[in-house]
Amino acid sequence: MTYNIAVIPGDGIGPEVTAEAVRVLNRAGEIFGHEFKYTELFAGGSAIDKFGEPLPQRTIDACRQSDSVLLGAVGGWQWDTLPGDKRPERALLGLRAELGLYANLRPARLHPALTDACPLRPDVAARGIDMIVVRELTGGIYFGERGRVQTDMGEAAWDTERYSYEEVRRIAVCAFKTAERRGRRVTNVDKANVLESSRLWREVVQETAAGFPGIALDHMYVDNASMQLIRDPGHFDVIVTTNMFGDILSDEASQITGSIGMLPSASLNGRSSPGGPEFGMYEPVHGSAPDLAGKDTANPIASVLSAAMMLRHSFALEEPAAAVEGAVTAVLDAGYRTSDIMSHNKIRVGTKKMGTLIIENLGMTKL
Ligand code: IPM
Ligand code: MN
Repeated sequence: MTYNIAVIPGDGIGPEVTAEAVRVLNRAGEIFGHEFKYTELFAGGSAIDKFGEPLPQRTIDACRQSDSVLLGAVGGWQWDTLPGDKRPERALLGLRAELGLYANLRPARLHPALTDACPLRPDVAARGIDMIVVRELTGGIYFGERGRVQTDMGEAAWDTERYSYEEVRRIAVCAFKTAERRGRRVTNVDKANVLESSRLWREVVQETAAGFPGIALDHMYVDNASMQLIRDPGHFDVIVTTNMFGDILSDEASQITGSIGMLPSASLNGRSSPGGPEFGMYEPVHGSAPDLAGKDTANPIASVLSAAMMLRHSFALEEPAAAVEGAVTAVLDAGYRTSDIMSHNKIRVGTKKMGTLIIENLGMTKL
């Protein structure tokens, strides 16, 4: 089977880490008998430089015609002084909205070989961290009405948090289905003690839970959840939450694993693609790290694991997905580390070498 992948390398370290993910995909295709075709596209700072806008229509159209999208990272100091709607970040928000990517899955797992990197107390780390944040991605305050007005207190500005029944229901369904494939626990995070939008959110999550009797559901206010993430991360299996709370909590979750360079993400739209079950955009959780660009030091693992999520979620290729994840684990277990996860007595390698090691191990897991 042939799959068409739109590739947006982006800015900073984006192109380097994406190149390794593509090499790994190609090797997985060879081993398991699939063909991946790539269309390279511009978005973010590189698109601003080339076309004068962060998200050219051609990029949106080509993504729509693909089976999935692999994105590196966007942004950099060169574009930091541009007005809000011209900044590279607009490309991400625009892609999410244009492609309807309402469900953002951000797994945060403390890899056993990397326990040293965890900033939490050793006894807390030893209990293990393995959770996934299911973040609503196309609604809420990110996309609500906003504006500015003059008042007798000076200029005022406002943004709106608003959620509809259907927006909450579909992300709740996604969270419960995700939990069915994992630890069968969902924690809903909201601010229902204060916000009306959170009260509706909680009602709908509760109602949706009735359709998933095998899943345990609990509710937490977001302030408490941010405490529990560092006090007792083992409590969490699947977290379901709003766009903004998910933005904040997924960064916190990534930090407690100690290695943001390792964490992949998937953004899904619930619609099947010509190539498989669900169209999605896949990208590392980390940013473009402009200071590391071009130095062959960035960690490509988040991008490689994002490609594995693509194989699983968009193409239903579970075996190659698991093989890629297994190869990453094998390389880490063998002691290889990029600089961001380097520790005593380990073997430091660059971006390309890490990709090559993963490819070599991929061959071994199958043959
Ligand atoms: C993320 C990022 C984006 C967000 C920014 C760059 C718009 O922080 O993907 O988490 O806030 O969603
Ligand atoms: Mn963020």
